[in-house]
Amino acid sequence: MDASLPAVTLPGGESVPALGQGTWNLGDSRATRREEIATIRLGLDLGLDLVDTAEMYGDGRAEELVGEALAGRRDEAFVVTKVYPHNASREGTAAACERSLRRLRTDRIDLYLLHWRGTIPLAETVEGFEALRRAGKIRHWGVSNLDLADMQELWAIAGGPHVAANQLLYNLSHRGIEWDLMPWLSRHHVAVMAYSPIDQARLLRHRKLGAMAERVGRTPAQLALAWLLSRPGVIAIPKTSHRDRMRENAAVLSRPLTKAEAEELGRSFAPPSGPAPLAMI
Ligand SMILES: NC(=O)c1ccc[n+]([C@@H]2O[C@H](COP(=O)([O-])OP(=O)(O)OC[C@H]3O[C@@H](n4cnc5c(N)ncnc54)[C@H](OP(=O)(O)O)[C@@H]3O)[C@@H](O)[C@H]2O)c1
Repeated sequence: MDASLPAVTLPGGESVPALGQGTWNLGDSRATRREEIATIRLGLDLGLDLVDTAEMYGDGRAEELVGEALAGRRDEAFVVTKVYPHNASREGTAAACERSLRRLRTDRIDLYLLHWRGTIPLAETVEGFEALRRAGKIRHWGVSNLDLADMQELWAIAGGPHVAANQLLYNLSHRGIEWDLMPWLSRHHVAVMAYSPIDQARLLRHRKLGAMAERVGRTPAQLALAWLLSRPGVIAIPKTSHRDRMRENAAVLSRPLTKAEAEELGRSFAPPSGPAPLAMI
């Protein structure tokens, strides 16, 4: 990865790009496939080297698309994918990982996440992840949509403190995790991956954000992403299937928020004033 770009350090000391690419809903249509692949490859050119996908997305079609897009460029990317909770037993995790590796056309996953918490005990999932890590099939593992109590439980399990990241709904309109989960993750050096960073495009229609964007000469998507990049330890993974939007989003890498812009956004989108159940999509 380009050392001049914003990065987040994982617990083991490895740096990963703070701006990556989401892939939910990619790979579903033959008509848009070429543009989607070109968009992912352009993202790599522009420094968005972290690519987030999941076995769930399009029943494996997003992973297949990522595999195709990364053909010949695998070493440039940090690949994140996720196991379904119902597959996250010790043996189920190993089998799901093999299927994902095949679809992604690779021999290793850089970060493998439990997509959300299901009924299989976390200890079993951790055992599965740790076995995959020892076997070199995955390099790091983490979780997604786990709240503070879940994280504390995970931390107490043998191997649990090896968790590298928690992928969470986090954007200007959803700041609930700032109350207690983010401070806990930061104290324990667990990275935050902010999913739906532009609130699935809803933030683009936000009146105050639109007005501010016009005034400061940026787009609403750029303000929303630049705000996330200004938060320490946060990796944002916007999804787009269009090259022009990829260019627009990537432009935030060369123009961080000013202090005044950060303060204005902080006033327009208030932080939480108390604990609330974890929001998720
Ligand atoms: N762990 C989890 O449970 C979880 C849950 C949700 C998402 N995720 C991950 O996080 C990624 C991002 O979240 P998301 O896809 O839900 O939402 P998002 O990235 O906040 O928003 C994606 C939407 O915004 C549009 N968009 C992107 N850039 C734009 C721009 N510059 N101007 C106008 N529209 C723009 C996209 O349309 P086009 O594609 O048409 O450009 C798409 O409709 C996902 O793809 C997935 O990898 C994880």
